[in-house]
Amino acid sequence: MDLRFDLAAALERELTEAALRSGLTEAGFTPAVRPADPVHGDFQANGVLAYAKRQRQNPRALAGALVQQLGGLAALADIAIAGPGFINFKLKPATLLDWLRAHGTRAALAAGASAAEQGRTVVVDYSSPNTAKQMHVGHLRSAVIGEAISRLLQFSGAQVIRDNHVGDWGTQFGKLIWAYKRHLDPAALARDPLEEFERLYKAGHHAAEADPAVLKEAQQELVRLQAHDPENLAIWRKINEASLAAFQEIYDRLGIRFDAVHGESFYNDRLDQIYGELESCGLAGESEGALVVFHPEHPRFKAQPFIIRKSDGAANYATTDLATILYRAEHFRATSALYVVDKRQSDHFAQLFLTASKWFEKTNRVLPRLEHVDFGTVLGEDGRPLKTRSGENIRLKDLLDEAVERSYRLVSEKNPELAEEERRAIARIVGVGSVQYADLSQNRSSDYLFAWDKMISLDGNTAAYLLYAVARIHSIFRKLDLTPGDAAAEAGATPFETPAELALARKLVRFPDALAAATGNLRPHFLCTYLYELAGEFSTFYSADRVAVDAGPVRARRLVLCNRTLLVLETGLQLLGLRLLTKM
Ligand code: ARG
Repeated sequence: MDLRFDLAAALERELTEAALRSGLTEAGFTPAVRPADPVHGDFQANGVLAYAKRQRQNPRALAGALVQQLGGLAALADIAIAGPGFINFKLKPATLLDWLRAHGTRAALAAGASAAEQGRTVVVDYSSPNTAKQMHVGHLRSAVIGEAISRLLQFSGAQVIRDNHVGDWGTQFGKLIWAYKRHLDPAALARDPLEEFERLYKAGHHAAEADPAVLKEAQQELVRLQAHDPENLAIWRKINEASLAAFQEIYDRLGIRFDAVHGESFYNDRLDQIYGELESCGLAGESEGALVVFHPEHPRFKAQPFIIRKSDGAANYATTDLATILYRAEHFRATSALYVVDKRQSDHFAQLFLTASKWFEKTNRVLPRLEHVDFGTVLGEDGRPLKTRSGENIRLKDLLDEAVERSYRLVSEKNPELAEEERRAIARIVGVGSVQYADLSQNRSSDYLFAWDKMISLDGNTAAYLLYAVARIHSIFRKLDLTPGDAAAEAGATPFETPAELALARKLVRFPDALAAATGNLRPHFLCTYLYELAGEFSTFYSADRVAVDAGPVRARRLVLCNRTLLVLETGLQLLGLRLLTKM
């Protein structure tokens, strides 16, 4: 058997071939090899039982016949039949070492992982805030989760297109432009444009509420913008440019770089095609002056139509999203599109996907796989949506600043002898990383409780704990005057012997499974849990077995473990979007 990255898949293939050799018909025999509970070994195969039942054979006897055919594998793993026909594999110490040797660099891990999503083109639609407003805490999850998912997919071989679908064509522009023309404060604009736009919007909103004549003027500003009036377009452009520049500061701090920023306005001249096609294929019809799509077979949507053109003739969120799907299918040739958006928009996406699937079918197009990658709300410690004391949304910028400040205190306590500048630099990585990791380490579909003390802590499943583990391994190498991965220092390693060595090695060869679970389910928390457990296993190993022994086979194999733990932790953290450090 080749010791490829995904050992479970390699074992699966061996079993399938063994089935052929043993004269079993391959029909319907689909062995599934999964990581096993450590008491049973490393991997467990099932599928024998179901097959035996269908063939009216004794499952244990069948498993026995299969194992007979696995001859060569016995050199690599202890194989045992358990229960009613499970086959357990426990890798031999030398096999563990060989796998770790074969996967000793980032490039080797990446090459191994890249088979999973090969050939797919995935558009990831994430962050996607509305312009003219600051990004607040509600925008955190989409950005953080979307970036992690993008990195995971890319590492697994997909071509990923990160697309920021900013809301830059909303009705807010009527009041905003009205106020911009009358109340702009250039000094405030220069200082903090988004703050000034928010102030202007509020001013416009209040004025319109107080005076119907103003409301009318604001509506006319919007109509003029939609009719591409040059003055209004210029103001609109200025507002969007300033917004995107401010967003970029947040993206830089989070390590995010988009491949496309196609805001809603990008699709403006593609909307007529949507109305035309949906009407001519009989999906859309007039209802109370609006153009809508009914889904008569759907329990809820049959009475709640999908509005694609409002009664005043204006396009909306739905129209743009339909045009966006077409663009992603035709221009990017996307095989799938993921929408990393709050779960409160699940009805919108359900209706959108349903409409798109009928439309594409009727027009003989191939629909990319569409998926709403949903997430829950960020809650404060009181269990209510996180707000400032005065009840306002917390600005993302302020939240990240506070995380860095709190991390600075943590780092200073832990390591007071580091120079101030160095502690500040470390705090920037730990602070932002803590916010990212706290979000990613929980199942995204649940709401999550934002608690500073739990998030910025060296105890528990946190960024600080994992980054500290990384720093500690770097310091082991520094003390030995070695660089991690030094081939000479690893030469002559003998197979693992002690229980702690073996437990750590077994954990390391599970990295592909954690990666597959996180990527396949689009749920980064599977990777977080794994990294946390790996760091714990490393801790146990490091206190049980000395690494700084005399140079020789024992030190060499322990250095292999140190280095591969470092490699997997660093790879994993970067896939989650975190920045790395070597000292903490
Ligand atoms: N701008 C929207 C909002 O702030 C999110 C857009 C999500 N993406 C999409 N294609 N609908 O709610």
